[in-house]
Amino acid sequence: MNTKNFFIETWGCQMNEEDSEKLSGMLKSIGYTKTTQKDTADIIIFNTCCVRENAELKVYGNLGMLRKLKKNNPELIIAVCGCMMQQKNMAKDIIKRFPFVDIIFGTHNAYKFPEYLNRVRYGEKSIIEIQNKEDGIVEGIPIDRESNIKGFVTIMYGCNNFCTYCIVPYVRGRERSRLPENIENEIKSMVEKGYKEITLLGQNVNSYGKNLNPKVSFAQLLRRINNIDGIERIRFMTPHPKDFTDDVIEAIKQCDKICEHIHLPVQSGSTRILKKMNRNYSKEQYLKVVDKIKRSIPNVAITTDIIVGFPGETELDFEETLDLAKKVQYDSAFTFIYSKRKGTPADEMGEQISDDIKHERFNRLVDVINNSSAKNNKLYLGKSEEVLVEGLSKNDNTKLMGRTRTGKLVNFLGNSDNIGKLTNVHINSTNSFSLSGEEV
Ligand code: SAH
Ligand code: SF4
Ligand code: F3S
Repeated sequence: MNTKNFFIETWGCQMNEEDSEKLSGMLKSIGYTKTTQKDTADIIIFNTCCVRENAELKVYGNLGMLRKLKKNNPELIIAVCGCMMQQKNMAKDIIKRFPFVDIIFGTHNAYKFPEYLNRVRYGEKSIIEIQNKEDGIVEGIPIDRESNIKGFVTIMYGCNNFCTYCIVPYVRGRERSRLPENIENEIKSMVEKGYKEITLLGQNVNSYGKNLNPKVSFAQLLRRINNIDGIERIRFMTPHPKDFTDDVIEAIKQCDKICEHIHLPVQSGSTRILKKMNRNYSKEQYLKVVDKIKRSIPNVAITTDIIVGFPGETELDFEETLDLAKKVQYDSAFTFIYSKRKGTPADEMGEQISDDIKHERFNRLVDVINNSSAKNNKLYLGKSEEVLVEGLSKNDNTKLMGRTRTGKLVNFLGNSDNIGKLTNVHINSTNSFSLSGEEV
């Protein structure tokens, strides 16, 4: 019997998390066990991200630390994969700097990992397998999900948008959508296992289905999924503002399981910068979409991604971003400092912004966001909210934690028998980041 175990560390977004769940699923199906102890693992896998420079620096730091482990245990197999590896010459550079790495593969051929593993076991060294082109969609890979309460379901891969700052289209390939019946079957099998919540994943979910024949729109897909018995909550990310059409809003409004939380990345509030970013909407168009969403979906929470310090961003441009954030009154936001990425058009643009200015703007933006999240969260005081109980609270294990339909984190006193179930929580205190209360 195979008693070997593996350790996976994942950086980056839910796409990478889902890929790691598949790597884990494949390894378990051939008899390996998952471990959280890196030091004693037989296989270590690093699933990397390159969306910002910081993400890459973390990978280098962590790889350096493996040198000693490999020295002490030459049998250890080290694999590095994910988005970072899809960049030109990256795999070769990694092997050069970290010659103890055994296997490198990319995002398009992760499903072949067991094959590469076998080759190493037969004595092959420094395997580098990167495909520049995607292989279409490979269905049927076992998934070992992190949670048995909520899970990701990828509906489409890749991205065609080529926002000028972003490396994702280069490392994840062109848009391709899964067939709706495959998505439905996956969700049905999750329901059988007791899952209560699913998040539909894609880099631009509302352009789902454009390459399918016959075409299926994102709104149609939402309606089909809403009809699946047993699933309690449906979320999706990430929609693109330019594709947030009325039929999607209508579907969200009419489908009872779709949660009242829309993550709608804006990136900048300046129409001039949005143009340079190739986002294909103006500040006014974005605000119009937000307004429609708010009018159609009562108590909806809106969150976003914002980049500060894009090349050429002036103080006036940045003030447009602050103004937009104040108008939308976001429930929360991922705020990023612009990071140059090789091979993207923005990297070649003049007028790069100094680190000092970027940090100063970042802090001012975070203040505005924290202000609106605190304000929005206060509206929950005294209310009873439906919460999907996910487990024990991270900071205080006498409490439970879960999320509202609007995606708010709730720490509360309650019965641990309800983990994995929906319950109602009376909210008695709030701050910018979470709500607290007691089960009723
Ligand atoms: N497809 C999603 C998210 C992709 S990456 C979308 O379009 O919204 C997640 C976030 O990282 C982006 O929304 C953007 O805010 C940020 N990001 C991407 N490239 C970046 C860069 N070069 N510098 C800083 N932030 C970046
Ligand atoms: Fe990147 Fe833009 Fe595609 Fe999102 S939509 S993954 S930000 S190129
Ligand atoms: Fe990073 Fe790749 Fe996601 S670059 S953000 S892990 S798609």
